[in-house]
Amino acid sequence: METTTKPFSIEKVKTSKIDQVDFDNLNFGSVFTDHMLVCDYKNGVWETPKIMPYQAISLEPSAKIFHYGQSIFEGMKAYKDGNGDVWMFRPMDNFKRFNISANRMAIPELPENFFIEGLRTLITLDKKWIPQKEGSSLYIRPFMFASGKGFHASPADEYKFIICLAPSGAYFSGKVKVLIEETYSRAANGGVGYAKAGGNYAGQFYPTQLAVKKGYNQVIWTDDNTHEYIEEAGAMNIFVRINDTLITGPTSDRILDGITRKSILKIAEDEGITTEVRKISVSEVVAAAKDGSLKEMFGAGTAAVVSPIAAFGYKETDYDLPELSDSYAERLKKRITDIQFNRTEDPFGWRFKV
Ligand code: PLP
Ligand code: COI
Repeated sequence: METTTKPFSIEKVKTSKIDQVDFDNLNFGSVFTDHMLVCDYKNGVWETPKIMPYQAISLEPSAKIFHYGQSIFEGMKAYKDGNGDVWMFRPMDNFKRFNISANRMAIPELPENFFIEGLRTLITLDKKWIPQKEGSSLYIRPFMFASGKGFHASPADEYKFIICLAPSGAYFSGKVKVLIEETYSRAANGGVGYAKAGGNYAGQFYPTQLAVKKGYNQVIWTDDNTHEYIEEAGAMNIFVRINDTLITGPTSDRILDGITRKSILKIAEDEGITTEVRKISVSEVVAAAKDGSLKEMFGAGTAAVVSPIAAFGYKETDYDLPELSDSYAERLKKRITDIQFNRTEDPFGWRFKV
């Protein structure tokens, strides 16, 4: 992977937009900070990143992103602690996954320093934008796509890597109700499910719209072959608690290898919770819901953090999850966010100072 080694150029805004933002009422990912980072891949080389005011970008109508969907992204957060210090969570894992996604979509790999130092420089510049209200953080969206032109159905010769920052509140508002999917599939064996490719999300929108019309927030995807096993949700991996055992499905080439998922597994083990990583059948979950051994279901992801599921639907029947006083979701959410916000020890070495 060839790169240039010049320092990043920085063009600052003349006037910040920060005063226009209501930090007490932030939605998820809908306002953006003053600056963004842009890096171009041309002539076989990633050029030196530029930091500039957040602005629209111009692309040719024949840019391959529009026609063939070569596009990947990551989702990360920056957290400000009580002393005003800024932290990221396991950013090297996001960087590695970014290049795994890039490889699958035939996009040239990005050099590590452009990703990590790019994040550091941009976040430091827009540090004032990091919310401090409980439940809010700075959502970070690194992405790259085919900007090269041409209708030939083959990889582009030019790409853009961009990082944008969005001060954000919670991803879900209120209780989460999910529908276990019986017809549509998110991903297939040998496909791109494990990549954070834009098209994986586009493909979910229609079945999710159908679920939303029926009163659900998200779809829980099942395996494409039999629809008998739980895979993951639209924006998070899924955990199930049966009696006192916490279970999540194994990752595969159909499932995103979630950083929150693997962190939750580690924390749960550290807390003495019995965990299992194994296939979870829908019939097992339905039977457990009926006999009362299904105690909890929750999603885990960067945007979703740990989101308890209040009910799930399957074959036209809804199953409510009980309200618990000893919820694993609450306990694990507290522990992971305490680590992220530097409120507790980090025995795993996950925190990364910006
Ligand atoms: N699964 C999907 C499809 C996602 O989009 C996400 C979000 O990134 C996750 C799982 C959770 O992954 P992570 O914990 O790395 O954010
Ligand atoms: C994230 O959790 O960061 C994601 O990428 C999910 C996204 C669809 C909001």
